[in-house]
Amino acid sequence: MTSSDQRPSTSIRSLADLDVRHRVVFCRVDYNVPLAAGRITDDRRIVASLPTLRVLIRNGARVLCASHLGRPGGEVKAELSLAPVAERLGERLDVPVRFAEDCIGDAAEALVASLAPGEVGLLENLRFHAEETRGDDAFARALAAPADIYVNDAFGTAHRAHASVVGVPALLEERAAGLLMEKEIRSLSRVLDAPERPYVAILGGAKVSDKIALIEKLLERVDSIFIGGAMAYTFQKSRGIEIGDSLVENDKLDLARDLLERASARGTKIHLPLDHKSAASIDGSRVTEVRDEANETIPAGRIGVDIGPATRAAWIAAIGAETRTVLWNGPPGLFEAAGCEQGTRQLAEHLATSPAFRVVGGGDTAAAVARFGLADRFDHVSTGGGAALDFLSGATLPGVEALR
Ligand code: 3PG
Repeated sequence: MTSSDQRPSTSIRSLADLDVRHRVVFCRVDYNVPLAAGRITDDRRIVASLPTLRVLIRNGARVLCASHLGRPGGEVKAELSLAPVAERLGERLDVPVRFAEDCIGDAAEALVASLAPGEVGLLENLRFHAEETRGDDAFARALAAPADIYVNDAFGTAHRAHASVVGVPALLEERAAGLLMEKEIRSLSRVLDAPERPYVAILGGAKVSDKIALIEKLLERVDSIFIGGAMAYTFQKSRGIEIGDSLVENDKLDLARDLLERASARGTKIHLPLDHKSAASIDGSRVTEVRDEANETIPAGRIGVDIGPATRAAWIAAIGAETRTVLWNGPPGLFEAAGCEQGTRQLAEHLATSPAFRVVGGGDTAAAVARFGLADRFDHVSTGGGAALDFLSGATLPGVEALR
């Protein structure tokens, strides 16, 4: 089965098909948000869930939200509590959100009992129980016990066959996709299955190995691929270009060469950087001595950190105003670091004004367009990182399948 079969269809119900009045709706959301010292630093995933929650509230459901946060490995870890998320969700919804200190058992039952129609509660981190990631049946039954209806709005977690993602919907006959889930599937399916041409993909990020399946899928579909970020250095090295001390996957050089050859045989144009920004050292998002490298070569002792000005101009000209579809997955540079954001920023600014249907595939790229204040200018910015990558690579997502 391919992702084209995963579009919301008659076999996956929508919120509008449910009669939720006075009933307990178990709403799987993805509130896996970044935290620093107990504070939420980016609440886009919370905001993205609001349309579904507002419909459920308006229709008189008793809304029981459940999510994971981080990877606590089945242990209770105070720093990964969803309590701050409940507070932020309440602020965003403008109604108080009750919180249960456990996702099953007495605490969960008490929360459900306290919910009047139109009220919202949030359960504590599902992954404080190892049974969640194991997809344990008894745990799924305990989660489903107080609920009448299942709604999945957690696209970001749809690639995980976890108890709350596949086990709970198997137990509740009435189940549907939330509005975010539907928009994600609709938008990503459009670039995968029905793109208008010319169609370009912009890929970046650290590793070719993370994106092999995506690149292979795209080679069959797009007219051109622009490759930036550290993965570009592996492609360049595979062509014998000097890349200094830049990040490289030496065990993927043959693969990179093969992908370039396949692209050329198909007539898919691959754009690699023509020039670079380089740094003397990188430590997290701290870089030293950033400078321009005038051509595709990066000398020894230097590390590539962004595409250079000639590349920016060439790529923007090549994307132009005629492109009809753009898929962007992975920033072309280390945009969080001072002096290294120009490539990502200028591409984002150009795309923000493009008439093409533009989809940003989650993760770092979504963080980048949000940082530049441009997220609203794209047709869709996915809330899924791994889930979007899997979907776009043509994989079947267990969380989508479970809604049928
Ligand atoms: C994500 O952030 O990609 C999702 O919330 C899934 O998280 P996971 O990779 O820890 O399963």
